[in-house]
Amino acid sequence: VRFDLILVGFGNVARRFVELLDEQRTALRRDFDVSTRVVGVVTRHAARLASPGSAALGAAPHSESHDRRGTARSQSRSTTEFIRRATRAHRASARGGRLVVVESTTLNVVDGRPGIDHVRAALAGGAHVITVNKGPAAFAYRLLTRAAARAKRRFLFEGAVMDGVPIFNLARESMPAVRITGFRGIVNTTTNFMLSAMERGERFDDALAAMQRAGIAEADATLDVDGWDAAAKVSALANVLMDARITPHDVHRRGINAAIARRADAALKNGRRMKLVAEATRRGTRVVARVGPRILDDDDFLTHIDGRQNALVLTTDLLGDIAVVQRGSGLTQTAYALLSDLLAIARDVRR
Ligand SMILES: NC(=O)c1ccc[n+]([C@@H]2O[C@H](COP(=O)([O-])OP(=O)(O)OC[C@H]3O[C@@H](n4cnc5c(N)ncnc54)[C@H](OP(=O)(O)O)[C@@H]3O)[C@@H](O)[C@H]2O)c1
Repeated sequence: VRFDLILVGFGNVARRFVELLDEQRTALRRDFDVSTRVVGVVTRHAARLASPGSAALGAAPHSESHDRRGTARSQSRSTTEFIRRATRAHRASARGGRLVVVESTTLNVVDGRPGIDHVRAALAGGAHVITVNKGPAAFAYRLLTRAAARAKRRFLFEGAVMDGVPIFNLARESMPAVRITGFRGIVNTTTNFMLSAMERGERFDDALAAMQRAGIAEADATLDVDGWDAAAKVSALANVLMDARITPHDVHRRGINAAIARRADAALKNGRRMKLVAEATRRGTRVVARVGPRILDDDDFLTHIDGRQNALVLTTDLLGDIAVVQRGSGLTQTAYALLSDLLAIARDVRR
């Protein structure tokens, strides 16, 4: 299968994804019969589109790009317009199921847009969508899944939670007929790292600055410390795994701050740990979801998930509790999420 890729967003993750495709080129061809070429790239500031007959674009959209500076509103409208134009220009590969929009724009916790609009425009143009943006699954999972089913295309988002560690794939592919009745986990690396640092006596501001320097904190770090990133992940997990119909605004949410950090320090002195716990449980027909700092006992599985680690415990009817632990996170893991989504589509196309 030769995939034509349209990159919507070209920041840290998308750049690493393009590199990863290059590094894995031989193995992808040999083991999966997959090759790729980038035919379009759009960011807030630049856009390039290759015509169907021409060679692939290089990986740098900023060269030879036309300038797109403007207001935020017109930028997002013009990105959606670009996706329409690009899918039309590449309709032959769209018809063959070989056109894939790779969505990696920034999370917007107000309403998940324009990420949602990008996914809809891509599906309407006959493209599959793979995304690392939490917004679409957190705000509009049901709508977008239906749109994908109507278009007979895939909408995949493994990278939305715990980078490339298979959570959604695990449930979708490996746990048929298993009912997930709840989950509990640590899913935000920035706050987990900060809480560990503050237990060692570091100040809140210094711990946050370190996360920003390491490129781990979100571009807008309040998304991490106020619990919005975790709330978006809980919403996506609950919608997909538990058939909930919630948005991040339905998640009871408390973040961390300097005062809470002192409680973390005090907890440690009593042999306990503070963690930002993300969880959801079913209450009758409703799913109740929350994110907040919790003091955990030593025998709690999540107590020892430190620093850069993430973990998620799924509670199920047929398999009991299943824990998935991610021991290191980084751009390669996130880029791998996109690669695993792409290979899932390749399996479909071959079938
Ligand atoms: N970094 C990680 O480790 C990680 C892990 C898991 C998930 N994620 C998620 O992955 C996504 C990307 O992360 P990142 O680190 O690559 O972010 P980033 O470096 O800030 O890149 C974001 C890209 O999206 C573009 N963009 C934003 N709004 C746009 C719009 N309306 N139209 C077109 N392009 C738009 C930006 O364009 P400009 O360059 O022109 O501003 C930039 O190219 C985020 O949703 C993040 O939450 C990241």
